[in-house]
Amino acid sequence: MMIKINSLPIEQCNACPEEYSFGVTFSDHMFLQNFDQDNGWNDANIGPYRPLSLDPSAAVFHYSQEIFEGLKAYKDVNGGINLFRPEENIKRFNRSAKRMVMPEVDEALHLDAIKSLVKIDKAWVPDQKGASLYIRPTMIATSPKLGLGASSAYSHFIITGPAGSYFSGGLTPIAVFVSDEYRRAVKGGVGEAKTGGNYAASLLASEEVSKIGYSQVLWLDAVNGQYIEEVGAMNICFVYEGKKIVTPALSGSILPGITRDSILKLAPTLGYEVSEQKLDINEILADIDSGKITEVFGCGTAAVISPVGELGFKGNKHIINSNQTGPVSKHLYDELTGIQYGTHEDKFGWIHKV
Ligand SMILES: Cc1ncc(COP(=O)(O)O)c(C=O)c1O
Repeated sequence: MMIKINSLPIEQCNACPEEYSFGVTFSDHMFLQNFDQDNGWNDANIGPYRPLSLDPSAAVFHYSQEIFEGLKAYKDVNGGINLFRPEENIKRFNRSAKRMVMPEVDEALHLDAIKSLVKIDKAWVPDQKGASLYIRPTMIATSPKLGLGASSAYSHFIITGPAGSYFSGGLTPIAVFVSDEYRRAVKGGVGEAKTGGNYAASLLASEEVSKIGYSQVLWLDAVNGQYIEEVGAMNICFVYEGKKIVTPALSGSILPGITRDSILKLAPTLGYEVSEQKLDINEILADIDSGKITEVFGCGTAAVISPVGELGFKGNKHIINSNQTGPVSKHLYDELTGIQYGTHEDKFGWIHKV
């Protein structure tokens, strides 16, 4: 299927503003295609960014049949624009679609849509160091019917918007609260799908911890409340004695992060040992307190690497590396962002040029 382009006249297109807030400023164009039982996916087009018109009975509003992705386009220091492993986001989108009983999207068309959209709105890819154009593919159920069941109609759209550097003043450790009260997801549920309901379910805990000075929640498994899963929108890694990087094994309720996967592949080439394990929170906290764990960091598309300086659990504070960014976090951040912005060799073939 071809993508029809209804681009705005050049004089009506904007350039990326110098000042913007993540998630509230959007580029000039969007991609949209629709699905129905008779035609399958149809009418793939790129047109001006605009509101969608939906029936109030559309299934997405009532039963949260929705999925999304998040990836970025980076301005290469040598010119051009880079996408980082977009095929992995596209595959994860289709896995999420399957889990939510939604129709899969042709992978080649999805990649073409992302590249074409970024190309049309290339003036929106920020120049500032560490900044990028955030890309948000989404699918929603649009059938106007309240009966509980999978929708028969869907819209797949992609919007983009500039994202500033997560750490304007250099990598800064965050404080993370380990929730003993709320649970995010359970094996057999939808935790490994990127579906909106997972995030809605996490909001109350996030609000509560922000009131006591923590910026993120660390989730434990829902069965025992004992094993570490992931942070709000990041996977989590623990560094033993500056050499070994340990992260929770994918349990069925954790989002399989693309940054996490990249670290598991890249770190051994940089001399680190890596391991995916079932991690007991009590053992991890004991290893932090004894100094065996020298660093903790979250990893995800938004921040790439986010050092964790404190874990709060059951009224106790566990301080990591004197609340300073450690060398392993910095090293991995520099290597990954180096590949994304073209200053480091892309040995894995992760970069797609737009
Ligand atoms: C719940 C959750 N875990 C982990 C991640 C990290 O995934 P990625 O590295 O693909 O951005 C994200 C972000 O997408 C997320 O929302």
